[in-house]
Amino acid sequence: MHKVVISGTGVFTPEQTISNAELVKAFNSYAENENRRYADEIAAGTREAIAMSDEDFIVRASGIERRHVLDKRGILDPQIMHPVLPERSDEELSVMAEMALSAAGIALKRAGRVPAQVDAVICAASNHERAYPAIAIEVQQALGIGGFGFDMNVACSSATFAIQAAADMIRSGSARAILIVNPEICSAHLEWRDRDCHFIFGDVCTALLLERADLAEAQGSFEILSTRCITQFSNNIRNNNGFLRRTREGHMTDRRDMLFRQEGRKVFKQVVPMVADLILTHLADENIAPAHLSRLWLHQANKGMNDLIGVKVLGRQPEPGEQPNILQDYANTSSAGSIIAFSKYSDDLANGSIGVICSFGAGYSAGSVILRKV
Ligand code: COA
Repeated sequence: MHKVVISGTGVFTPEQTISNAELVKAFNSYAENENRRYADEIAAGTREAIAMSDEDFIVRASGIERRHVLDKRGILDPQIMHPVLPERSDEELSVMAEMALSAAGIALKRAGRVPAQVDAVICAASNHERAYPAIAIEVQQALGIGGFGFDMNVACSSATFAIQAAADMIRSGSARAILIVNPEICSAHLEWRDRDCHFIFGDVCTALLLERADLAEAQGSFEILSTRCITQFSNNIRNNNGFLRRTREGHMTDRRDMLFRQEGRKVFKQVVPMVADLILTHLADENIAPAHLSRLWLHQANKGMNDLIGVKVLGRQPEPGEQPNILQDYANTSSAGSIIAFSKYSDDLANGSIGVICSFGAGYSAGSVILRKV
């Protein structure tokens, strides 16, 4: 079995940002319009008025201060309330592939690799722009990578599950280097008209290069010591969008179940213990004491959740920097969140330092990756 390292990471961050103030202003304007439009029904008690959103609530409940998005204008227009991403022709590069190329370029450069040295591409993300051909194959062709590519979706755990899949292939010898990309256009599957969740998501793309350790040349790589994935079915985070639904009544965009929805409180309560237990048993099985961890790069869904997982894993309050958060700037970026944290907060670690990347989300799904700086 070969040893595997992560030799390069890259993050593509869309230029446009939306502050909580801008977001709340647009939402409240939409809500006021709707409440005016249905004033009679609201007065008659046959319809509920839409409650206003609130900046302080958003920061208190989630820790999110702003998010990057591909199209700010559509999201903030009270008459539109979703990103307007023009459909591209079959001859044009898809939006996800475009984001992926940008992040992949950075990861390859950091790893000191050219595409010809890569054997496969995995595009792992929560929502895909189309059913097929795979975005990964488009990225493979655009970069000039040989071998193969495929898409996979395990919602917010897509990146860690892809790390396990790629690491297993490299360990066993079916590939020498694999590029993983996580283009997350979360803004397109968020219901921006729903006060309970309109603040949650942002857009981003991350990339990782995994290589056989004996072939890697980059300084400051991270050896993948062990990976573990778990799933447990739950409807508490769900998106019903799919081709079978077209035959049902109602236009796709009018159906609330066709976009992200969740039972946030249940998710919080059920997922925190599941994740803490996953990390602790994974570490115990690898004979690593939590006290020997230098860093936790957690999924970035909610600051409260991350703080609690940190305390449960370390048995104490994490020191500043031990468990870096990026969600104040990016919001929840689904599978990319823990990889952004890893990419931005790992260079400073000393050789030999051990850390864990951990994702969690819909499925439920959770993935733990134990790394050692080499
Ligand atoms: N502005 C103002 N008030 C709001 C609001 C908003 N944007 N959204 C909700 N509220 C209100 C609710 O109506 C509710 O009012 P009530 O007490 O009068 O009923 C109150 O604030 C609390 O709402 P609730 O939805 O229970 O909030 P919460 O404290 O549970 O926080 C989440 C919401 C989503 C941030 C939280 O449940 C969470 O972090 N869940 C984790 C799951 C997650 O992030 N998943 C992402 C996918 S992995």
